[in-house]
Amino acid sequence: MRTIAACLFILLLLMPLAQAQSLNEAFQECPGTIVGNTEPQQIHLQVTDNPATMNVIWATEGRATGEVEWNGQTAVSSDYCYNHDMAFHMATMTGLIPGEEVTYRVGSGNSWSNEYTFTPIDPDALHFEWIAIADHGESSEGMDVSDAIIADNDAQLVTLSGDISYADGEQSTWDIWFDYQEDSMTEIPWLTAVGNHENEPGYGFTPYEHRFDSDGQIESEIFWYSRQYPGVHMVFMSTEHDYEPGSEQYTWLNQELGSIDRERTPFLIVHGHKPMYSSNSYHGSEVELRDALEDLYVEHEVDLVIAGHDHFYERTWPVSSESVMNKGMDNRFAQGHGPIHLVIGIAGRSAYEELDEPQPEWSAFRENSTYGWTRWVYDGETREITATHHRIDGTIGDQFTLQEAPIIGESENEFLGVPGFGSLLPILAMLGASLNESRKEK
Ligand SMILES: [Fe+2]
Ligand SMILES: [Fe+2]
Repeated sequence: MRTIAACLFILLLLMPLAQAQSLNEAFQECPGTIVGNTEPQQIHLQVTDNPATMNVIWATEGRATGEVEWNGQTAVSSDYCYNHDMAFHMATMTGLIPGEEVTYRVGSGNSWSNEYTFTPIDPDALHFEWIAIADHGESSEGMDVSDAIIADNDAQLVTLSGDISYADGEQSTWDIWFDYQEDSMTEIPWLTAVGNHENEPGYGFTPYEHRFDSDGQIESEIFWYSRQYPGVHMVFMSTEHDYEPGSEQYTWLNQELGSIDRERTPFLIVHGHKPMYSSNSYHGSEVELRDALEDLYVEHEVDLVIAGHDHFYERTWPVSSESVMNKGMDNRFAQGHGPIHLVIGIAGRSAYEELDEPQPEWSAFRENSTYGWTRWVYDGETREITATHHRIDGTIGDQFTLQEAPIIGESENEFLGVPGFGSLLPILAMLGASLNESRKEK
């Protein structure tokens, strides 16, 4: 009896000590969250690889255990912080039906967000629209791009190929960036690849990892992962981590790119930050990246590689080892001739205006002093994707279509490498027919 009483006494002594220790640990990590209001800020959807679930992440000044409420259900958040005076929360909405609108709000106690709605994307839908950007930040041009995205009621998601907020160690920049995008990010998911600016002085990738995901949940796939959409499989890779053959990322890419059912999903797009092909004089082509991964992309018939890093717009022809594989017809390309590489680092950072001269043969279109975004539409009836490069002044810079079917007439035009061969075909056909007729007469 005496022994039990002694144990209980020791336990009672230890309990407050244990609490004090854990509080102290948290205090050291992010002391600024001890006090502060718990009003949700920086709310953003974080798409999972399951269309029936959706994560939502938000920040509060003070610590709290948060919740998400959706369609009459509730889930408690994981709460965490890093070396910055904000607490972060991530909660998962489950049981969602693709194509059916969801209404939700996040918060705790008396501090709740507005209600927002989103529609989980049905991977088997016949129509899909999205926006792709890179090199964003919070300049006035960047905000013009953000405003255009917020005003777009048809886009179902946004992809961002790296260099996101340009916080570069100043963590309040992330807070401002997320608050500015909130009107879009609460309604449609943004999917990101990491750029060199996500590797921050004094912080490394920690802010990116905490703000786009939570510790230990899906972090293992955060730098390279994929998502399935109607007609399009999207792979997000990191040019900021080891991608050489034999690396974990290379092995994953090889397996992932080879595992797509191209009957169900005709198009395969890779998003990464640094470009394999760029004729901008500021950074130019990332040759080590090309040497390491281009063969893999060609072998697995990647259709498009969407990069940033150089702050200009450039589209290549379908290309392999710097050789143009095909020139399509009237800005329309058929699949299977090698990837088209895009540099779209035009979403707000200062333009890099100096270009390599002469323009390399593989470069189909380039533009060096405008800002904007690209908009993409997949049509499941015709099985084609059309991309449009929009400038912030409302004009269109570039437009092209990629289709699954061969382009009629194109092969004749390039027959045996003789341009214009197609125009000779009707004459040859007439000659053939009259030869046949004269044979019959004999
Ligand atoms: Fe950049
Ligand atoms: Fe960059």
